[in-house]
Amino acid sequence: MADRTVTVTDNATGKKVNLPVLDGTNGPSTIDIGTLYKELGYFTYDPGYVSTASCESKITFIDGDLGLLRYRGYPIEQLAESSTFLEVCYLLLHGELPDRQTFDAFESRLKMHTLLDEKMRRFYLGFHNNSHPMAMMVATVGAMSAFYHDQIDVHDADSRESAANRLIAKVPTMAAWVYKYTVGQPFVYPDNNLDYVSNFLYMMFGLPTMDYQPSPAFVRAMDLILILHADHEQNASTSTVRLAGSSGANPYAALSAGISSLWGPAHGGANEAVINMLEDIVRSGQSVSYYIERAKDKDSKFRLMGFGHRVYKNYDPRAKIIREVCHQLLAELGENNPHQQLLDTAMELERIALEDEYFVARKLYPNVDFYSGIILRAMGIPLNMFTVIFALARTVGWISHWKEHMSDPYARIGRPRQLYTGADQRDYVHIDQR
Ligand code: CMC
Repeated sequence: MADRTVTVTDNATGKKVNLPVLDGTNGPSTIDIGTLYKELGYFTYDPGYVSTASCESKITFIDGDLGLLRYRGYPIEQLAESSTFLEVCYLLLHGELPDRQTFDAFESRLKMHTLLDEKMRRFYLGFHNNSHPMAMMVATVGAMSAFYHDQIDVHDADSRESAANRLIAKVPTMAAWVYKYTVGQPFVYPDNNLDYVSNFLYMMFGLPTMDYQPSPAFVRAMDLILILHADHEQNASTSTVRLAGSSGANPYAALSAGISSLWGPAHGGANEAVINMLEDIVRSGQSVSYYIERAKDKDSKFRLMGFGHRVYKNYDPRAKIIREVCHQLLAELGENNPHQQLLDTAMELERIALEDEYFVARKLYPNVDFYSGIILRAMGIPLNMFTVIFALARTVGWISHWKEHMSDPYARIGRPRQLYTGADQRDYVHIDQR
């Protein structure tokens, strides 16, 4: 029994139950309600899981009020400043930063898996040219189950490890090929002489007809974007991966479900929606204030995209870092870069919103997606690929959470209950008598 308990009393019957309080390393304590139904016959009701901890986890910590984000205890600012995406992948997967030898071995293991099975090429050919890249990602990552189904035992740690490596290694190839297919260019095979991020950019932008050298500024900016999107505890897509995986489904199928969840504009699709919004503002010639007023109007469906967060009630620490890099990258591109107008509009939007009573009262701040799209656009990444880049980065987060769930001896299939408010029992009436 935990040292601390919370007593719930049913005022109708006077029956009481003591529920244990569990303390984590950081963050609010948690009431273990596992016995509530057995003892009092009640479910709990929490649409959107606002007050619900769905699992115990050691991977990522967020303090939304203070605007803190840590992977395995390391502040995101330190990782962004000094680490690389691949090192962060190792950290998220294994819990510790690797020494040089361990890192090299990890990188070599990933390089053994960068190629896709040649038969996978044919999947791409079945899509319309204008298919959304996220639709193709959902399908092709899910299709990996067909190739590796027999080789995975989800209850075996080594087997889970190889699935994790395979996914982290192959998703960049899949993401780049999705892009190549939509623009009608030949697929570029991975070059294992390149580091992870350069290889991805090479597969995206390389052509058989000419040499392609990714610019160091772009490699660094992409590496940083991947670090910042690598994990974010129990968000919608990660929870989807955990839930799908909890049935024992293979990780490729579970990740495909996670990619579907990420796609929506309230989640990973917001980076695409932000650029659409900024371009609309620039094109319309309307003032930024006009859009702020629309976002506040409850009769309008319009929301300020890239603003607000379920957990952060303070500036999203990732947005702070990205905003800085955005300035640096655009400065490197020169005074008259074509993306400056978008950045200026974004900054004006942020300035007005942060002084506006509506946004202040609701603690709505820019989130990670507010500035990331401007960087991606400046790197020549097309709009419909933005959420794919997010999925590429989040693959390591999803697979780390899947591994954590599968290695938890107390993990059970996820099976929420409901508050049923539909029809009570009634008798069937034949169609002729209705
Ligand atoms: N513009 C205008 N009003 C907003 C916004 C916004 N972007 N976000 C929240 N609100 C208002 C909302 O109308 C509500 O007002 P009221 O209390 O008067 O009804 C209040 O703020 C609370 O909003 P909520 O929808 O209950 O909050 P939530 O925690 O359910 O939703 C959110 C969080 C991120 C879905 C939401 O803020 C939103 O739709 N933001 C825009 C989309 C976006 O940028 N998403 C990316 C999130 S970060 C990356 C990721 O998770 O993938």
